[in-house]
Amino acid sequence: MDFKGKVALITGGGNGIGKAAAMNFAGRGAKVVVVDRDGAAAEAVAGAIRQQGGDAKATMADVTRSAEVQAYVKAALDAYGRIDCFFNNAGIEGKVAHTADYDEAMFDQVLGVNVKGVFLGLRHVLPVMLKQKSGAVVNTASVAGLVATPGMPAYVASKHAVIGLTKTASGEVAPMGVRVNAVCPGPVETRMVQDIAKQLRPNDPASVAAAYRTVIPTGRYTTPQEIADVVLFLCSDLAANITGAQWVVDGGRTAVGGAMTQAMRD
Ligand SMILES: NC(=O)c1ccc[n+]([C@@H]2O[C@H](COP(=O)([O-])OP(=O)(O)OC[C@H]3O[C@@H](n4cnc5c(N)ncnc54)[C@H](O)[C@@H]3O)[C@@H](O)[C@H]2O)c1
Repeated sequence: MDFKGKVALITGGGNGIGKAAAMNFAGRGAKVVVVDRDGAAAEAVAGAIRQQGGDAKATMADVTRSAEVQAYVKAALDAYGRIDCFFNNAGIEGKVAHTADYDEAMFDQVLGVNVKGVFLGLRHVLPVMLKQKSGAVVNTASVAGLVATPGMPAYVASKHAVIGLTKTASGEVAPMGVRVNAVCPGPVETRMVQDIAKQLRPNDPASVAAAYRTVIPTGRYTTPQEIADVVLFLCSDLAANITGAQWVVDGGRTAVGGAMTQAMRD
């Protein structure tokens, strides 16, 4: 778990899980490139890393735009000359609505960020890693990439697609020393779950978390730090023969299956 001299590139690094991962990589000695469409948030994270004595750069980019993806890859190479770890993480939740009512433009938007954004990241980072003959990618899927969440058709479809991209790319690049895995978080304490709770129960968002926690065996949501720790592990040499895998981090929720919260049924 020593990342000294390694370079970590993180999309959606300005907030939530991506921010925790950026701080985590930096804490273990990596040079970090923080990518986010929210340039101020990316700059704040890079600044916090530098303040703690680390080395980090911020780059503003929208992961759905090919030219901006190529620009963030170039920024990483210009700054540090290589990319050892790529946390392909930026994603959005979209709106909560049943499939029969789901807005078409919103569907395109969610797939644009969560699927095309992840594809473009792979498309432009993998050639760098293949040239290096080394590198590790972690794509952020979700337990929504494994099981359904009624009311989130675009999100669920997008995260299933991330797992498909992960499996496909992993087989293509494994012989050349490059690994591609997915992390599948259950609910994590970030802005995203708070927004979903507000959409489900605008007058009582806290009740969504209370209900959901009752069907999580550990009884709580995962912290961003706990996801970031798994990402670090998957990018480390300890995971040297792990590729094409889906790492579930959800307090046992998908293992027990079964019950849905009333809020999701509504
Ligand atoms: N929070 C959860 O419960 C949870 C659970 C499972 C999976 N995830 C996934 O984890 C990832 C991170 O989510 P989070 O919870 O940290 O959310 P978040 O909203 O806190 O952070 C997401 C970050 O991505 C950035 N972003 C969004 N669209 C972008 C774009 N087009 N280009 C560049 N940056 C963009 C945002 O500005 C933000 O900084 C997402 O892929 C999400 O789907 C989250």
